[in-house]
Amino acid sequence: MKIGIDKIGFYIPHLYVDMNKLAVSRNVEPEKFTIGIGQEKMAVPPITQDPVTLAANAALEILDEKDKKEIDFVIFGTESGIDSSKSAAVYVHDLLDINPYARAIEVKQACYGTTAGIQMAKGHIALNPESKVLVLGSDIARYGLNTSGEATQGAGAVALVISANPSILELEDQSVYFTTDIMDFWRPIYSDKAFVDGKLSNEQYIAFFSKVWEQYKTKTGLELKDFEAICYHLPYTKMGLKALRTVLDEGTEDVKDRLMENYKISARYNRNVGNIYTGSLYLSFLSLLARKEDLDADSRIGLFSYGSGAVGEFFTGLLQADYREHLHVENHIKLFSARKEITVAEYEEIFQETLPTDGSTIELDIDNDPATICLAGMADNKRQYVNKTK
Ligand code: COA
Repeated sequence: MKIGIDKIGFYIPHLYVDMNKLAVSRNVEPEKFTIGIGQEKMAVPPITQDPVTLAANAALEILDEKDKKEIDFVIFGTESGIDSSKSAAVYVHDLLDINPYARAIEVKQACYGTTAGIQMAKGHIALNPESKVLVLGSDIARYGLNTSGEATQGAGAVALVISANPSILELEDQSVYFTTDIMDFWRPIYSDKAFVDGKLSNEQYIAFFSKVWEQYKTKTGLELKDFEAICYHLPYTKMGLKALRTVLDEGTEDVKDRLMENYKISARYNRNVGNIYTGSLYLSFLSLLARKEDLDADSRIGLFSYGSGAVGEFFTGLLQADYREHLHVENHIKLFSARKEITVAEYEEIFQETLPTDGSTIELDIDNDPATICLAGMADNKRQYVNKTK
């Protein structure tokens, strides 16, 4: 039985900062951000968007009434969750009116959470071929104003439906995963910003890629030439490029050109959004599928997932015939073109806005947020979510 990605969509906040302008205000040469790091625009979430609303908006774009009835498992990958106890999946389950006879959980392992969710979903479908699983990856990447990580912030979510007989990508069975305890990136419960050892995280990302890639080749007998494209977790687009370059010499000139061209296409959405942590790999995969129009059915796509701390996994899938018909590329274009640029000063102000932590009530202005699902306020330490269509 084929199991894999039947639907995939994303959501990003409607505000962004131009990286050239951020560079100028930080006294950095713009090329450091646009070439050295490889980012053009950074998504900025207004206070009316949090990881729950971003994920719910992403899922809203792809689910129909039949999906909502058939989904019996909602898995939410996040590393910027809003509650240490209640899962973000339960909120999304309610906001989207998903079948009540469903499981809803949150999974965490830095940027690896969504991949863990997808693999869990695959096992669930193998045992329950009639069901569908909604996997969400949603985060707000925050390092702080004027920090070295600032240029690699961002916000957004992906939503995937995993099912039998998928329309987009059949997940192949063999994958390689690897875990080692390292402190390259972490966020203690008391902090709303991440701590990062940038140099170590870069080194370890590449070391993990090398380990899983070598093991994958040994296990499967497959080689670089067997891949149409490799998509990477992209904390910033230069990072995946560095990892890809470590293996390019294993291929002929044709293979190198193909993988390099497809890499650039797969990084396009991420260049314009920034880091969305758990969703980054899947935003890159979607960018490839949406922006490259001539991928053949049965093309093999490699996916490298990395979550600091750290867990890495290399896994693969085969594109299904007519996958393009299931992408809704026109919605992607609309989402990007409806965004509004804000100044660095406006971004700084939004960045510093906070919600009450003393139980007091606050009502937020959701009329200025074009999203369908918003955070409308807080009361009694409870977040008040609104689906404007309900
Ligand atoms: N033109 C072109 N490139 C330039 C440049 C210019 N004017 N100035 C600098 N650069 C290049 C540097 O050579 C470097 O490239 P390299 O990595 O290929 O050597 C790149 O820009 C970044 O410069 P660097 O001095 O390393 O930046 P930094 O100290 O500000 O840190 C990160 C960059 C990514 C480490 C930092 O933003 C960070 O910690 N981010 C969060 C962690 C993260 O995303 N980790 C990834 C793994 S999950």
